[in-house]
Amino acid sequence: MLSSILLSLLPLVSAIPWGPPGSSSQTPSFDNVTIFTPPADWPRRSTSYARVVLLNQNCETDNVLLTTFTLTPPSGRYYPVFASHDQGQTWAQISQIEFGPETGKDYSAGRLAQPTLLELPIDVGEYPAGTVLFSGMGQPTDQSSTDIYVYASRDKGYTWEFVSLVTSGGRANTTNGATPIWEPFLLMSPVSHDPPWVMNAYSDSRDPAHGQKLAHQSSPDLKSWSGVIDDAAEANYTLRPGMTTMAKMGNGKYIFTYELGLSTDGLPGVNPFATHYRISDDQETFDSAEEIRLKSSDGIISSSGPYVVWTPVGPSGKGTVVVSDSHFTMLFMNTEYGDPDAWFTVYGDHGVGYTRSLTVMPDESKVLLVNGGMYNSSSTIVTAGIIDIPGTYAPGFGPGPKDRDSVSSCGGKGFWNNWGAGVAAGGW
Ligand SMILES: *[C@@H]1O[C@H](CO)[C@@H](O)[C@H](O)[C@H]1NC(C)=O
Ligand SMILES: *[C@@H]1O[C@H](CO)[C@@H](O)[C@H](O)[C@H]1NC(C)=O
Ligand SMILES: *[C@@H]1O[C@H](CO)[C@@H](O)[C@H](O)[C@H]1NC(C)=O
Ligand SMILES: *[C@@H]1O[C@H](CO)[C@@H](O)[C@H](O)[C@H]1NC(C)=O
Repeated sequence: MLSSILLSLLPLVSAIPWGPPGSSSQTPSFDNVTIFTPPADWPRRSTSYARVVLLNQNCETDNVLLTTFTLTPPSGRYYPVFASHDQGQTWAQISQIEFGPETGKDYSAGRLAQPTLLELPIDVGEYPAGTVLFSGMGQPTDQSSTDIYVYASRDKGYTWEFVSLVTSGGRANTTNGATPIWEPFLLMSPVSHDPPWVMNAYSDSRDPAHGQKLAHQSSPDLKSWSGVIDDAAEANYTLRPGMTTMAKMGNGKYIFTYELGLSTDGLPGVNPFATHYRISDDQETFDSAEEIRLKSSDGIISSSGPYVVWTPVGPSGKGTVVVSDSHFTMLFMNTEYGDPDAWFTVYGDHGVGYTRSLTVMPDESKVLLVNGGMYNSSSTIVTAGIIDIPGTYAPGFGPGPKDRDSVSSCGGKGFWNNWGAGVAAGGW
């Protein structure tokens, strides 16, 4: 009797994630898989700032992941592109992105940093759905500027072409009064624009009213970019918000996390870069949204270089917001759509790293964490591991019929993902 009850309950309590027929919905658990170790003879063996994209916008079911990160090779400058065909367990380099003569500047002994990747869910300008976009910040050899470019790959990361210069700032310098731009983050903008535009959100020190602010420019074709629209411009000139990431949640709202440089409201004894966030109906209007400090129920305040994703898996039926930062190994989670009083910390065993990236996997109970290494360490490696999200899949979320049927290149599969949620396997 008891065993038959248990048996009949089993399908309900076993956490088999939902996935569309034919897709590989099971993601294996693994930890500290090495993606890249700088060769022993490199004079500068530091890596940092890894970013990841899961390719699924052409109805791919093989779950290919791409990652790129910052490194300092002995000669030349590039962003390496590594691919994984087994959901992050093994990786191999497939290409590299260089800022070449097409830019009109020389980056051969400069600095290339702060990459971001996005796979287009729809045609944008001359770039078809499924094009992989890259953006990054380059400082030329003569150190005269900071420049954010976009490059594109029409073959899933094997070859890259120049697309456009988004904007330029003054020479790299983190002191208030200097005028660099950096830390781009690519995502789609479906609320302010129909059909959606591509947003490039970055840190901007050019506005004399703000030591640094967060802002973005959007584009209907990836060639022409809108004027600068503020995302987080603090009333206090001294404060330096930085490191934009944004994600869409299952209630249709967007969450935007960032560090607040020089803030005094962080955890005592921890660097002054407390994580703050905002919630909005539209990623293009965050500047008017309330700024909230990310403090968990155990009193821990997240600090520096945050990265946010949302997955529909979670015990409350509202999915889970997951935030990683650059100070703690643990993760900050919230199963109440970012309610300021509902953050909790979850043990993570992936090491500390400068702005570790998060990617919701096809099995949405798993989030891939890629740790690019700690900035300004003499020798680092790039590693990947899986974070398990507690709770079961919450049905009833996902994009509406318009998104599903007429906008996405793939019947809606993955559309949700590139609006920022990171969800690969759909929800319908
Ligand atoms: C950095 O910017 C500050 C503020 O404009 C300036 O005083 C300083 O000289 C700059 N540092 C360098 C190395 O250029
Ligand atoms: C502005 O921020 C700085 C750095 O946190 C702080 O020292 C200063 O008191 C703030 N000014 C005001 C008017 O709040
Ligand atoms: C992963 O690597 C980090 C950093 O080296 C280490 O602290 C952690 O213990 C490792 N985790 C496992 C499961 O080996
Ligand atoms: C860390 O940064 C400081 C200041 O830029 C620099 O002097 C030092 O060499 C760096 N350390 C490493 C290990 O790169």
